[in-house]
Order: sequence, then C-alpha cells, then structure tokens
Amino acid sequence: MHPDLFDALPVPQLQPFRLDDGAVLLRGFAGSDDRVLLEEVEKIIAVAPLRHMITPGGFRMSVAMSNCGQAGWVSDPGGYRYDAIDPETGKPWPTLPAVFMELANRAARSAGYENFIPDVCLVNCYVPGTRLSLHQDKDERDPSAPIVSVSLGLPAVFLFGGSQRSIRPMRYTLLHGDIVVWGGPARYHFHGIAPLAEGHHAIAGRKRINLTFRKAL
Ligand code: SIN
Ligand code: FE2
Repeated sequence: MHPDLFDALPVPQLQPFRLDDGAVLLRGFAGSDDRVLLEEVEKIIAVAPLRHMITPGGFRMSVAMSNCGQAGWVSDPGGYRYDAIDPETGKPWPTLPAVFMELANRAARSAGYENFIPDVCLVNCYVPGTRLSLHQDKDERDPSAPIVSVSLGLPAVFLFGGSQRSIRPMRYTLLHGDIVVWGGPARYHFHGIAPLAEGHHAIAGRKRINLTFRKAL
C-alpha cells in the first residue's frame, strides 16, 4: 500500500472540538467503554423499561426513554419533572452504574467542568425515523453543572442552536462513542436530533442510544 493512503484514514480527535462558548464535542471519548456501557443500558431497561412519554401538550414522544440515578426525567400531561420513582413500575430508578459516573465526570473535566457529579442519567433510544425536536434542558436545579451527552450506535445529526429558538441551529453528525458537553454560557442552548437515518450498527444494531447526564437535584 502506498503510504499516502493512510493520510485518508480518520485520525482519532484528541482535541475537544468547540461548538460554542461552553460547549464541546469530544470525538470518540466513550469509544473504549462502548460494550460495557451498552451492557449497563440493557440492565437498566430490564428494570425500568423504555417507554414513549406523553408531552404536556398531549403528544407521544418519538424517542423511547428510561432513566437511572437518584431521580428520572419524566414527562406526562401534567408537565415535566424529576421523579425519584419510576411512574411505570412504582419503584425507584436503577442506580447510576460506576462506569457511567466515571465517564461523565472525566468527559466534563475534559470540557473544562471540574467535579461534575451527575445524579440523573436519561437514557434515550432512537430507531430510524425517531427525532427529538429543539428544546432546552431547564428542569435541573443547578445551572452551574453542565449536560454530558454520550452517543452510542447509529449516527445522528445533532442540532445545536443558541439561547433563543430563533437562532438557526448548527448541524453536527454524532457517531458511536462521541460525547457532547454543554454548560456555562451554552447551558440553556436549544438542541435536538434530526430524524434518524436507516442503518445498522455493528454493536448496537438498528438503533441509537443516547445517555444524558445531569446534576438535576
Ligand atoms: C437530549 O437532548 O436529551 C438528547 C440529545 C441526544 O440524543 O443526543
Ligand atoms: Fe436535551
């Protein structure tokens, strides 16, 4: 093989890629933990099954969700909240696995946020066609803690806008193992996921799993 051919191969990106002030994309950051992360997701959803929540406006969400941690993010016709009890099972959510905690803390630190200790992990499951419309994460109590968002499985187009809905979002393809961290001046930026394209991922199959870590309580 001609040595120049190697120049075309993707190089793991070690430098955090800046999306905006306070927001970075860490390419492949979770890549080496992928199998254990997905195993933990299977254990979580065996206890707290994935479900399509109903928005306060009465719509069934396209994304299937579960949670682990001291509380879980819940939507129903009454509104959004963090609840220590899973309303589907009547039991507490599964605890945050140590490997989740450690990864989220390390990713936050790489993005410039020291001492991030999440208490909630929202598990989002996308299949081809699933989308998540532009929204802000603003149900959490502590505005100084960032959001740490881990992508596994099929690629997705992440929409990342600004502090107002009217700011046209940028589009970034998130791949298996990528982590996005947003906080500080970007903490309340609008974001979402474009409809997932058809595909098959070698480890995750025909889906995308997103883990979103928050300090919510
Ligand atoms: C979210 O905003 O909760 C999820 C974002 C994603 O799936 O990447
Ligand atoms: Fe979000």
